[in-house]
Amino acid sequence: MTPAAFLIAAAFAALLRGGVFPQAAPEPLQAPAPAAEAAPDPEYGAWLAEACAACHGGATPGVPALEGRSFAELRAALEAYASGARTHDQMGVVARSLTPEERGHVAAWFAGRPAEP
Ligand code: HEC
Repeated sequence: MTPAAFLIAAAFAALLRGGVFPQAAPEPLQAPAPAAEAAPDPEYGAWLAEACAACHGGATPGVPALEGRSFAELRAALEAYASGARTHDQMGVVARSLTPEERGHVAAWFAGRPAEP
């Protein structure tokens, strides 16, 4: 559930408890069902990408450029680092510090950037 959807649900539950609809029996608050992964959001990815710039921001030897690479390739690389299928000390820490959704957001951001010449 997105934060906004959760707030709406919580507000609605509060309305019910407050007796705005007195005929409605008060329902116990339930844990939100796991939501489907949100669509990759490059705007949010831009914010996350600030944490990548320290290493990926310039022509640092051994640090590949990410701009303009395909979303699928970037996403797959991040998932591989996170799962340990691809091992790299720094990128493992970075990838695991992001949620799967955040890995999608940041991949979408870099995929939408023009490739550096
Ligand atoms: C501490 C430095 C550092 C930071 C911070 C960092 N990276 Fe990396 N990244 C690397 C290095 C070094 C590699 C090359 C690792 C390898 O050879 O597998 C790499 C590789 C990658 C790759 C694989 C590229 C390829 O050509 O296969 C992706 C994708 C990636 N980083 C994404 C990110 C994203 C997204 C962030 C920010 C959320 C980030 N990195 C932050 C150092 C960093």
